[in-house]
Amino acid sequence: PADHPDAPRRVIVVGGGVAGLATVLRIRRSLPGAQLTLITKAALEESNTWYAQGGMAAVLSGAPGQEPSEPGPRGGVRDSVAAHVADTLAAGAGLAAPDPVRLLCAGAQGQVSWLESVGFRFDSAGGAPASGREAAHSAARILRAGGDATGRALAAALIRAVRADASVRILESTVVTDLLRAGTPAKLRVSGVHVRPAGPATAGEPAAREITADAVVLATGGAGRLFEHTTNPAVATGDGVAVAWRAGAVVADAEFFQFHPTALDVAGSPLVSEAVRGEGAVLRDASGTRFLSAYHPDGELAPRDVVSRSIAQHLAARGERCVYLDATALGGPFLARRFPSLTSLTASHGLNWAREPIPVVPAAHYWMGGIRTDTSGRTSLPGLYAVGEAACTGVHGANRLASNSLLEGLVFAGRTAEALAAPEAPWPAFPAHPLALDSPDAGEPFDRAQLQRLMTRQAGVLRDAAGLELAAKQLAAYAPVGSTIEELETVNLLLCARLLVHAATARRESRGAHHRSDFPLADPRKVPGSTAYVRASTPE
Ligand code: SIN
Repeated sequence: PADHPDAPRRVIVVGGGVAGLATVLRIRRSLPGAQLTLITKAALEESNTWYAQGGMAAVLSGAPGQEPSEPGPRGGVRDSVAAHVADTLAAGAGLAAPDPVRLLCAGAQGQVSWLESVGFRFDSAGGAPASGREAAHSAARILRAGGDATGRALAAALIRAVRADASVRILESTVVTDLLRAGTPAKLRVSGVHVRPAGPATAGEPAAREITADAVVLATGGAGRLFEHTTNPAVATGDGVAVAWRAGAVVADAEFFQFHPTALDVAGSPLVSEAVRGEGAVLRDASGTRFLSAYHPDGELAPRDVVSRSIAQHLAARGERCVYLDATALGGPFLARRFPSLTSLTASHGLNWAREPIPVVPAAHYWMGGIRTDTSGRTSLPGLYAVGEAACTGVHGANRLASNSLLEGLVFAGRTAEALAAPEAPWPAFPAHPLALDSPDAGEPFDRAQLQRLMTRQAGVLRDAAGLELAAKQLAAYAPVGSTIEELETVNLLLCARLLVHAATARRESRGAHHRSDFPLADPRKVPGSTAYVRASTPE
């Protein structure tokens, strides 16, 4: 516990997914005397975490330095932290930062123990946590809960723990519209948040107000709602990145947006876990042909960006709408036992996946880019921290390895809570290009569906200079109108879209999740670097 005189007395955490909830619980232990406020835009139960299926990557034995992928006693693979590190770096396509990745992977075992201390356990088999396989992992190391309901089980346990602590002030249905800053222009600090109620105004409650704090932690998740098809819930509108940008924080790697290969092709694009392919399901096209081995030797278990891109290219070449995930060989009883939620989901859409392949499409899933932070959650703005998908620590590089994000939220929540309790070290300065993204005073009105169509067509799985130029021009002309919560979210999405398109235009190569048809290879001439930007004009 912190005992130094400058330790923050009032801390605001924004976001109710694993990163926000774990940050609150960790701060409660590292700064027991602090006044803690947790703010969420919807109910605590509405977050990306809630919908995570596959699980959490974790190596529970072995130590850094072991040889990766050593053959195990039964011809399988004996896992190691070093192997998890190697897989994460390989998925990141040269852009993942080795030190943060080592912290992430080496932190897994401690997080499993910490979760047990707050009442959460992963599913077990024969007395040890059961572990499954997912694409681009060299060993079966994905821990799960409730079969395929890992996120829901994890979030529910963390929510119980947070709600049980009466000293945490929880403000649900509350939108953070901007950050407060205080101090001199040369020495500005984030000093709180502007908020508005998300629901109808309640009698006696002000429509908008300020809440001050010594530190603000943004754990607001991603921005899947930038695209037409997304596995993300309605709350994923890039709010954290947008408020941090407007306050002058550095945002990095915005061009890297991961598309999950298999969302069920029905309204809402619900996720069909990669773990289904990990158990042996295969992808077929409309003619019934398995096609992925023509694109990558690892077929269905190739890295996620490769599978999504191959599906998109195959569909474009054949003029078809979806491909089919064939899990029939796994058998009804196994599917019902291993994937109970997906069995109900498919049945609710009139599909019997034990008997027939189910239609799937790639859908926007996870934003690798975000608010640039160090490995203690510290952004470029004194007083502002970011954790989880909203942050860009460098652990994912150009493409996140499956099931690394629940782990990311937990590991960096712990490190952020420790940093908050320690005497404040000099604040990090991240290199960044100044960029002006403000909206024209008089421009074209637009709605969110137009924005999503534009982003899906011109800045989605496949990109090129002409499409990106068209997108940039159109996005620059859009002028946001209105002040409802939905309209404010759309303004945030517009800002995120402009950042993404600008970074995607600047990266004239293909790397990880960013694929340019006009530059189809990674540029071998240069060491890959981040695309980092900061608002050009000084925030007022
Ligand atoms: C899945 O279950 O396929 C999602 C896992 C992830 O995105 O990490």
